[in-house]
Amino acid sequence: MSDTPYFDKHVFFCMNMREDGRACCGKQGAQEAQQHAKKRIKQLGLNGAGKIRVNQAGCLDRCEEGPVLVVYPEGTWYTYVDTSDIDDIIDTHLVGGKVVDRLKI
Ligand code: FES
Repeated sequence: MSDTPYFDKHVFFCMNMREDGRACCGKQGAQEAQQHAKKRIKQLGLNGAGKIRVNQAGCLDRCEEGPVLVVYPEGTWYTYVDTSDIDDIIDTHLVGGKVVDRLKI
């Protein structure tokens, strides 16, 4: 067994959708944001083993701060408004290794 993590970075988007009126990331653009991230990581050739994985997740229990995503292994949490915020997280954090302070929660 190797000590090297299978993915260099693993990104989880909360995709939870609620119909009872409570806050949920699914109604705040999570679907579009996750698909945008996945597509862009692939376009950049950064997807796959040893690189970056973008996954869908259920509720991550930070609903009021949403929409949210979390980047591991750092455990850095972000919120976002649109796909330009997602691009900033990709370019600055996932590629550049620096936290995007303005989106961090
Ligand atoms: S609905 Fe997204 S964190 Fe709970």
